[in-house]
Amino acid sequence: MKRKPLIAGNWKMNLDAASGVALAEELCSAGIDFASRDVLVAPSFTNIYPVAEAVKEGGGKIAVAAQNMYFEDSGAFTGEVSASMIKSAGASWTILGHSERRAIFGETDADINKKVKKALSEGLSVILCAGETLWEREAGAAVETVLAQVGKGLEGVKDLKNVVVAYEPVWAIGTGRTASAADAEAMHKAIRNYVAEIRSAAAAESLRILYGGSVKPENAGELLGMDNIDGALVGGASLKAAQFLGIINFDK
Ligand code: 13P
Repeated sequence: MKRKPLIAGNWKMNLDAASGVALAEELCSAGIDFASRDVLVAPSFTNIYPVAEAVKEGGGKIAVAAQNMYFEDSGAFTGEVSASMIKSAGASWTILGHSERRAIFGETDADINKKVKKALSEGLSVILCAGETLWEREAGAAVETVLAQVGKGLEGVKDLKNVVVAYEPVWAIGTGRTASAADAEAMHKAIRNYVAEIRSAAAAESLRILYGGSVKPENAGELLGMDNIDGALVGGASLKAAQFLGIINFDK
């Protein structure tokens, strides 16, 4: 069974409110075939509300995600944003454990696991990111690193129905270097086999595993044609409608 592809745009710390809304409007009016693919955009916290409103206006087919979230409900956590705040702004998903959160902001697997559990318990769907550094890959530890991040991120999470995993090799993010389709497929297969082991064959079979790292219209078709690659988490190329649509319409 091939799973329904999810094409997700991680806007990172780019686009102000007006340009985020303009991009969302362009995507909404582009005639995307939502019967055969899901599409999601992840603006910065401050732009979730206006982008979610624009998407609603435009037919409500594109989902909105946060790029991060804090695991506490409320309180003295200056600068942090809770799951319920994200939901009330109009998002139904959150990305968690992105390598930039891990590397720049020191997020640990334990932090990420708390966030995953909190998000799911509040009804947010989760894109859990995992990926190895170049050093880890060259040391032959890529699979071990990625499976450990997936396992720890999902610790205590029994139901994976609202979870998507994104494999993003750190060395391929924003560098123009993409994992070859065969290497990415091998990692996705390893993740799926591991999920079958730690959960169940059925959970593994229905889990969507996205690839991220320099995905472009030119390489999307080959990557997404792989058996175990169920979508893309796109950074740079999600900031321009034409490029993002070139990926969304990967098989057109
Ligand atoms: P790029 O597509 O810019 O390489 O970013 C990938 C990414 O980190 C998406 O989360």
